[in-house]
Amino acid sequence: MLKLKTCLALELPSINAALRQATLRLPTAVRPVAEHIFNAGGKRLRPFLVLLMARLFGYTGKDIYSLAVTLEMLHAATLIHDDVLDNADTRRGKPAVHTIFGATMSILAGDAMLSTANELVADHNDLALVRCFSQAISRTAAGEIMEIAAMRNLTQPAALYREIILGKTAWLIRSACVMGALKAGASPAQVADAATYGEELGIAFQIVDDALDVAPASVIGKPSGGDVREGKLTPPVRMYREHLAAASPAALADFDKHFSAGDLSAADAENVGAQIRLLGFDQRTRELAGECLDKARAALEKLPDGAEKRHLYTMADYVQQREK
Ligand code: IPE
Ligand code: IPE
Ligand code: MG
Ligand code: MG
Repeated sequence: MLKLKTCLALELPSINAALRQATLRLPTAVRPVAEHIFNAGGKRLRPFLVLLMARLFGYTGKDIYSLAVTLEMLHAATLIHDDVLDNADTRRGKPAVHTIFGATMSILAGDAMLSTANELVADHNDLALVRCFSQAISRTAAGEIMEIAAMRNLTQPAALYREIILGKTAWLIRSACVMGALKAGASPAQVADAATYGEELGIAFQIVDDALDVAPASVIGKPSGGDVREGKLTPPVRMYREHLAAASPAALADFDKHFSAGDLSAADAENVGAQIRLLGFDQRTRELAGECLDKARAALEKLPDGAEKRHLYTMADYVQQREK
């Protein structure tokens, strides 16, 4: 039996070739931007999920690659936009698009990538796919909007966090699974189980991302504690505040003052990140992700057996343990 990693490595050339074909459909002015982010790297998780889900339901058509990469084009466009919103200088270990091409180009190129990706989905002549893909775009945008509205707000309800990450990250991963299943002609009940798997995997993926945010800068390739600095109330930051509340109300008041004012320096944020690690809150955050992954596995259990199903189980393990 092929390992998940081997299977992805074998698929990568076809995924990247389809991505190059898709890039040719972009307006000429936009291609250098798309090539920059595609060539910078990335795990290609979303197209890979499309392939696995479609094959799980018995699909063998070669046109699955052209569908799979539409999700990567959407993902890349959201990353380009996200780095403008977050004022982030690096992405995939390379300079972020806006640092090279400017914010105006980043926004417009991202828009063109979203609409071209839509057109590429439409080539598959299946309205259900187009509907799912369009929803993925608007849900992702809505998640990003919610997150920005909640920034530096310490009184937000705890449940808002799930809403935010469901939108900004999980919906796209969910859509990858749904589109693979739809393309393969899965039944509505099977599509619903594929959706649950993808949604819970996607939620867990972002929770682990938030645990990774306090990992040393040398590991994640960006400053440690970025979420603290940006005023995002992620699980490890919540745990840290609860710890301060019990240990030193004065320290909590001081932290809250700077967190809400958004005036923590990079060094302050890195220091908070180091304390969060020392207190083990990053590991506890991974345990929260584990609860979502159990739900993902329960949904997967109902789907047809085979090599792909085993890979999707391994994918759940990978999401919990991933180091980057
Ligand atoms: C990054 O996604 C943005 C998040 C949703 C956390 P990935 O971690 O999948 O990024 P790439 O595609 O591998 O660069
Ligand atoms: C990830 O957002 C989700 C999207 C890009 C829509 P974040 O801002 O949390 O992730 P990174 O840290 O930039 O990858
Ligand atoms: Mg960001
Ligand atoms: Mg962001």
